[in-house]
Amino acid sequence: MAKKVILDCDPGIDDAMALCLALLDPRLDVLAVTAVGGNVAPAQATRNVQAIIEQIDPPRWPRLGAASAPDNGLPVDGRNLHGNDGLGGADFNVAELHHLHPSEKVICDQVRAAPPGSVSVVALGPLTNIARAFQRDPELPGLIGDLTIMGGTVTSPGNITPAAEFNIYCDPAAAKAVFRSPSTKTLIPLDVTNRIILTFDLLNHLPDRSTKVGNILHRILPPAFRGYRQQFGLEGIHVHDTVSLMAVLYPELFTIEEMAGDVETMGELTMGMTVFDRRRVPAWRRNLGVAKYLREREVIDAIRRGIREAAERAG
Ligand code: BDR
Ligand code: CA
Repeated sequence: MAKKVILDCDPGIDDAMALCLALLDPRLDVLAVTAVGGNVAPAQATRNVQAIIEQIDPPRWPRLGAASAPDNGLPVDGRNLHGNDGLGGADFNVAELHHLHPSEKVICDQVRAAPPGSVSVVALGPLTNIARAFQRDPELPGLIGDLTIMGGTVTSPGNITPAAEFNIYCDPAAAKAVFRSPSTKTLIPLDVTNRIILTFDLLNHLPDRSTKVGNILHRILPPAFRGYRQQFGLEGIHVHDTVSLMAVLYPELFTIEEMAGDVETMGELTMGMTVFDRRRVPAWRRNLGVAKYLREREVIDAIRRGIREAAERAG
């Protein structure tokens, strides 16, 4: 039976790629896609979610949720890498902007409508919606099957400040609340997502532009390659969110260690940093699984295969 999932995302090029793969994977039953502000402002994130889903037009449309701003606003955005519209300037049409429920309500409703423990959540952006859903329905953490979070770092440097990873930095208070919640969590930090680099040759092996998935990727990926080259001198791109989706689809390719983690919400230099009690005798309770290693070659192969198969399925 397909795994029921809710995808919470802030598209974002790597979010969009993850969305394409997830919506067309027969092992997943995507109940809802909920937008969150992060790479782009909330309204644009909502629009991008709709745009990607309209482009793909999956056999069964998921529920959609609208993003709203974090309580303290968004401190940064990701437009330097993801383009002004978050999708590399692809400027996809959106046929009709639906009136959508807020993302946190959609998450609560979908989890409540299914048997306890049967819905997994995959969080690919700031944790604003997840924290709000937990606040709205305090029993929710225990009703979710598992929560996979792309975010944070263990020993690696951050990517938005020296200490912080982007998703956690965007809404540290929400991340702290989610880390401390009694939910079953797996964190996919930069330490492992940075190990995956998709090289330029991917562009020569994308599905044809005449396919739905090919069309999306041909439009969003070249600007990402340009951005990574200009900003980091890197001849390839990271796709943190797609790697995190692979952790859901292929857990056997990841080594997960139970750790005790929390989030810094106040530090002048460390706001948004994820902190783990790695002392010889830890005093904090272990509260989440953290991906420590991944099988690089196999994860890259799985992503490339996922792209091919998604294109075949969507037509
Ligand atoms: C995360 O930040 C965003 O820019 C990406 O979409 C990803 O979710 C990586 O730090
Ligand atoms: Ca993201």
